[in-house]
Amino acid sequence: MKELLHINGGKILSGEVRVGGAKNSAVALIPAAIITKSIVRLDNVPPIDDVYNLLSILNKIGVKTLYDNKSCLYIDARNVKKRLLDMEEIEKIRASYYFMGAFISLFNSVSIIEQGGCSFCGRPIDIHLDLFGKLGFCVNYNEMLYSLKKKSKRCKEYTFPKKSVGATINGILSCCRIKGKIIFNNCSLEPEIDDLIEFLNKCGAKINRDGEKIIVVGNDNLVGCIHKIIPDRIEAGTYMIIASLMGQHVKIKDININHLESVINVLKDIGVNIKKKGNYLLVSKGNDYRAIDVVVEPYPGFPTDLQQPLSVLLSYCNGKSTIKETVYPLRLSHLESLNDMGANIFCEENLINVNGNRIFKNKNVNGYDLRGGISLVIASLLASGVSNVKGVKYIKRGYSELVYKLRNLGAEIMIVRDEENEKNIC
Ligand code: UD1
Repeated sequence: MKELLHINGGKILSGEVRVGGAKNSAVALIPAAIITKSIVRLDNVPPIDDVYNLLSILNKIGVKTLYDNKSCLYIDARNVKKRLLDMEEIEKIRASYYFMGAFISLFNSVSIIEQGGCSFCGRPIDIHLDLFGKLGFCVNYNEMLYSLKKKSKRCKEYTFPKKSVGATINGILSCCRIKGKIIFNNCSLEPEIDDLIEFLNKCGAKINRDGEKIIVVGNDNLVGCIHKIIPDRIEAGTYMIIASLMGQHVKIKDININHLESVINVLKDIGVNIKKKGNYLLVSKGNDYRAIDVVVEPYPGFPTDLQQPLSVLLSYCNGKSTIKETVYPLRLSHLESLNDMGANIFCEENLINVNGNRIFKNKNVNGYDLRGGISLVIASLLASGVSNVKGVKYIKRGYSELVYKLRNLGAEIMIVRDEENEKNIC
């Protein structure tokens, strides 16, 4: 069934919103859990489609799961089985490439079809493949299928040619069960990687981080543990942007404020009212927003996953802002729809130019990826009148209970069947 988000915008939002567990931690921890070949309990697991797809993959490789669809997930990997990873769910999520690291750690080989996920631009995995090669695996690619087989000794030290969250995680997954020590240099600094390290160390692994250097000493005798996933800093940042545009004392709770420094700094520079309190933030719309120049960078810089939502806020500032997107410069699928709604955003020489003082108009628009989709939801919440946002399947990949949380804040939003589209399919 196709769905769309039906939004009657222009409302002031207030109240509180609870941020869920981090999507990008969950999608790494779930494949990591199978490496233990025992029972793991993860708490604060967000009920999002990426999680459901991963659980479906686990069930097809002999791993039992029990999820309360809110937070608590048991994974019983005692009977994990090696098989060809060609399920349709693999194609739906990019993070299914973590099964490459998990499988070579367990079975010394893996065959997996090419991963999917948001295709906002080319998302190469050449660094992962280079890493696997240096770890002693022969990598073959044929008709959308990657096959990795152990052929030689692994290196003792590996320097990532470029910072990559996924490749850093695959490095850790590949080596945490294999006896011996390996040093990884130029690792990504994202907190989701530290969440994975904490989880694996609880399971008996010996992984140490010293800034951009990560040292893994393998242990083939891992055991299960209980672990609570860190809060989703991107979901928190999304609600901060929403509250910046239409919020009155919106309380954003169950977050880790330390993970949000760059976002807080950018919003404060614009003129947003933000008060830090323990593990929550109070965010209210300010009176007079300044245009700014933002650079999107790997953590601890401003996150690429908030670049698209931020462009809605910058459209509202006084004057012209710019965004220099250094991580995924082609993450621009939202521009046409946002401009249709009244924004004036254009790209010039790798710089996203956002003209301010814009008023958003209600429209029917189409989201093409997760963060682009949510930026259209934000614009629709801001625009007076009814908008319909398509591409709900992307948004559901990463935002847990979006409609419930926004309605709690006073938004008029519901998910409805996209009947017109369904007729077209028939
Ligand atoms: C992860 C996050 C994603 C986020 C991104 C950047 C998950 C599941 N996804 O994605 O939400 O937007 O980090 O913070 O955690 N690159 C290569 N070759 C590779 C791998 C990456 O050239 O083999 C490049 C990418 O094109 C990009 C940069 O490296 O320019 C960073 O990408 P990376 O950190 O790997 O992103 P993901 O792990 O895919």
